[in-house]
Formats: sequence, C-alpha cells, structure tokens
Amino acid sequence: MSHTNPATVLITGAAKRIGAEIAKHFHANQFNTIIHYHRSHQEAEALANEFNSTRSNSAAILQADLNDFQALSKLSDDAQRMFGRIDILINNASSFSPTPLGKTGERQWDNLFNSNAKAPFFLSQALLPELKKNSGCIINMVDIYAEKPLQNHTLYCMAKSALAMMTQSLAKELGPEIRVNGIAPGAILWPEGEIQENQKELLDKTCLKRLGQVEDIIRTIDFITHNKYLTGQIIKIDGGRSVNI
Ligand SMILES: NC(=O)c1ccc[n+]([C@@H]2O[C@H](COP(=O)([O-])OP(=O)(O)OC[C@H]3O[C@@H](n4cnc5c(N)ncnc54)[C@H](OP(=O)(O)O)[C@@H]3O)[C@@H](O)[C@H]2O)c1
Repeated sequence: MSHTNPATVLITGAAKRIGAEIAKHFHANQFNTIIHYHRSHQEAEALANEFNSTRSNSAAILQADLNDFQALSKLSDDAQRMFGRIDILINNASSFSPTPLGKTGERQWDNLFNSNAKAPFFLSQALLPELKKNSGCIINMVDIYAEKPLQNHTLYCMAKSALAMMTQSLAKELGPEIRVNGIAPGAILWPEGEIQENQKELLDKTCLKRLGQVEDIIRTIDFITHNKYLTGQIIKIDGGRSVNI
C-alpha cells in the first residue's frame, strides 16, 4: 500500500449538518474524504460531487445502517480500499430520541446504543491496524448530556456516556500510536424536525446566553487533529452550559 496517497478521513453521518461541515473542513485541508451516510443519499452525493469538482477523485460516499452489525465490517473494509489508507475516524453519526420511562422498548435501546456506542467501538476496532500504521486519530462526537442527564432521554444519555468512557479507555489502550479524543457539544444545531419549546430556557442556562455555531466545533476538530500531545480528552463546547446545568 502506498503511503504517498493524501491522508484520508472517514466521517460517519456526514451528509448533513455538523458531519457535513467536518467533511468540508478536512476536504479543504487536502484530505481525501469519505462521507458515510444512512438515509441522506442525495445530500451525501451532492457533497461528494462538490468535493470532486474542486479536486478530482478526492471524495467518496459509503452507505451503511449502523444498526446492522454486518454492515460495520463492510463499511471499514470499503473505506480502507477506497483511497488505500485511513488516518482519521470521526464517529459523528448519532440517533437522538426521547425514551420516556414506561414507554420505551428494546428497539429504541438498540437504535440509540448502536449508533452512539456500538458502531463507534466496532468501527474503531476494525480500523486499528490502519490507524496505527498512520499514527492516526479517532474523534468521537459525545454530548454534555453524557455527564448530566437530559430529562426524558435516559437511553441517549447512557449511550453517549458509554462513548465518553470508550474515548478514555481507547486512549489508554491505543497509545502511543493512536490518539483518541472527543467533543461534547452543548446546543449547536437544534435536532431536526423538533420544535424545542424549551430552547430559550436551555440558552439561558449557558454562560454565553446563545446557541453555539458549527464553526466552534470545527475549530475544536482542528485543535484536536493538530495537538499531538492530546489524548483521552473530551472537550466541552457548550458556552458554559455545563457550569450551570
Ligand atoms: N447538534 C447539536 O447541537 C449537538 C449537541 C450535542 C451533541 N451533538 C453530537 O454531535 C454529532 C453531530 O450532531 P448533528 O446534530 O449534526 O447530528 P444529527 O444530524 O442528529 O445526526 C447525524 C447523522 O447521523 C446519522 N445516523 C443516525 N442514525 C444512524 C444509523 N442507524 N446508521 C447510520 N447513520 C445514522 C444520520 O445519517 P442520515 O441522515 O444519512 O440517515 C444523520 O444525518 C452527533 O454525534 C450528536 O450527538 C450535537
């Protein structure tokens, strides 16, 4: 395998929103960029076309439902084959839904844990030899609710908590070759299709009294990528919400 190829990043759930902005950041920084998606085929394809029109053969899309365990090894195999190497894995894909007590079933458990914890673990494991070879890094998109629970969202909080522990544990397991860090956003983009009655109340709980911006996440991705002495850390980007939670 030639290592003269440009560095390559795989970002899960990268067709839209924060994942798509992360993809744009890496692509603008000369990475070959693999956009994983589940349902957002059109958006993923449009993004890859945009990337390939500025630099040919620099972006690709891969579809996988992270609930499908068999699909995870296919995703990692295809991703490694795509440009011949992987340097950075960003575990960004996530499902988010309320799980009120008394009304929550196994399907919701599986859905929340698969995307937020199980897939990040097994994808990381499958990519280890490749990441090791390239002194690579893993960045997990966690949540401030991994530490302090969000009302009505026990399973989401539990799953993000597992991802937070995975971040620390893998940092310990995988050093010195691979660095593993996380970002815990506060309110950056409101969940799609959800009218949040308590949006103002949530923003009032931040010290900075406003919503964060995707650029704040991107700056942190850039910081983590370049800070070669940083591992096992989860950086809160929450406008100080965690001080007041
Ligand atoms: N937005 C915020 O303010 C905020 C706050 C705290 C934490 N975060 C974390 O930051 C990350 C990005 O946030 P976001 O709001 O941009 O995420 P999002 O829009 O809620 O989700 C990102 C993508 O995850 C994918 N996904 C969900 N379930 C999947 C499954 N079973 N298989 C494969 N893909 C699946 C979806 O892909 P398709 O569209 O292709 O189906 C979706 O576009 C997430 O990890 C989130 O938990 C965000």
